Amino acid sequence: MASAAISGTTTPTVYDFGSGKPDPRTFPSEALGQAAQRVLLREGPSLASYPEARGYVPLRELSALRFERNHALRVPVGDVVTTNGSMQAIILATQALSRPGDTVVVEEYCYSGTLGVLRQLGAQLEGVPLDDDGMRPELLDATLDRLKREERRVGFVYSIATHQNPTGTIMPLERRRQVLEICRRHDVILVEDDCYADVVFEGEMPRSMYAMAAGSDPDRVIYIGSFSKILGPGVRLGYFIASESLSARLMAYKRDGGTSGLSSMIVAEYMKDQLWAHAAEVCDVVRSKRDTLFAALNRELGGLVDWTHPHGGLFTWLKLPEGVDTKAIAALAKERNVLYATGRSFDAADRDVPYLRLAFGYIADDLIDPGVELLGQCIEGAAPGGPTQRQHATTAAA
Ligand SMILES: Cc1ncc(COP(=O)(O)O)c(C=O)c1O
Repeated sequence: MASAAISGTTTPTVYDFGSGKPDPRTFPSEALGQAAQRVLLREGPSLASYPEARGYVPLRELSALRFERNHALRVPVGDVVTTNGSMQAIILATQALSRPGDTVVVEEYCYSGTLGVLRQLGAQLEGVPLDDDGMRPELLDATLDRLKREERRVGFVYSIATHQNPTGTIMPLERRRQVLEICRRHDVILVEDDCYADVVFEGEMPRSMYAMAAGSDPDRVIYIGSFSKILGPGVRLGYFIASESLSARLMAYKRDGGTSGLSSMIVAEYMKDQLWAHAAEVCDVVRSKRDTLFAALNRELGGLVDWTHPHGGLFTWLKLPEGVDTKAIAALAKERNVLYATGRSFDAADRDVPYLRLAFGYIADDLIDPGVELLGQCIEGAAPGGPTQRQHATTAAA
């Protein structure tokens, strides 16, 4: 096994395709340090009090500006609530909108953290199948019809419409209209998780469903954003945007004394001038890693697996060969220190599905090629018939 020397001792090399984190080299430690000094000298004593219930105003203003630039809608700062990571917004939405035993409708493959919250808070899950354009509206409609017939109460619909986690799909504008119309007809709230906003490698992103509904149907959508993917999850800052009446429902469950004023101040002070330049830098670094990963996958696994080609976000979703033993892959990968997320962890129905998710934001560039080579050995080793059955392909999977 490869090793790296650290202060005279050797630690095994870990090939971390596991979780969705940006590159640690893009974390702006120095600039944040300077921002911290500026803002603390100016406003430090205010930290002797609890933060405002809805969060530090300059960070909420910044979140509103970010939303306006991306989605062409100016939202009142009062409609923005800062949270302890976007995860807290997901928890608050679940607590406020879904009683234990209610059903929450999600994409068939959905961020494992959200699935964990929903299960823990007693929601029953219904997964709507995805295609290359995200959640399929006709199946969402059919699911909501069936739930109505079965007299099951629906808490909300949850969608990651842009750079879906784990599949990386982007829901086009027309489909967003259809999804909104279906939610309106069934009178169900849509929670739109836009955690990967601004991790964009190419192309224009469709407008958010929150912005699309705001004029005509303002209580239909709750929008969730995060600073984790363009800065780092360690800062624990996210937010939700919702109408007054919806945000009041979520605020009733926010009993945490407020989101960290210290973290909020430092990030707002840094981001007020640097948000777009910093996001562009993060995207350049992650885009290049995505391209390295795709080249390695093509070389090592072309013809054996298919994978998605996301235009943003931090993941690709690999379809494994039919009949492959996913537990055997996991065991082989563990021996080789190759980390990835299993398909099962994203499956709304908790099935052992023949997929795995590779994250490409955090892993060091020079570990991508050897990591994919090792992963290839694991998949080949677990494929039905073993390594000799592999058919080498010359073109990329679509
Ligand atoms: C879709 C999605 N939503 C929310 C989160 C939670 O992020 P955080 O709480 O760090 O903002 C993640 C993290 O991976 C995610 O992928």
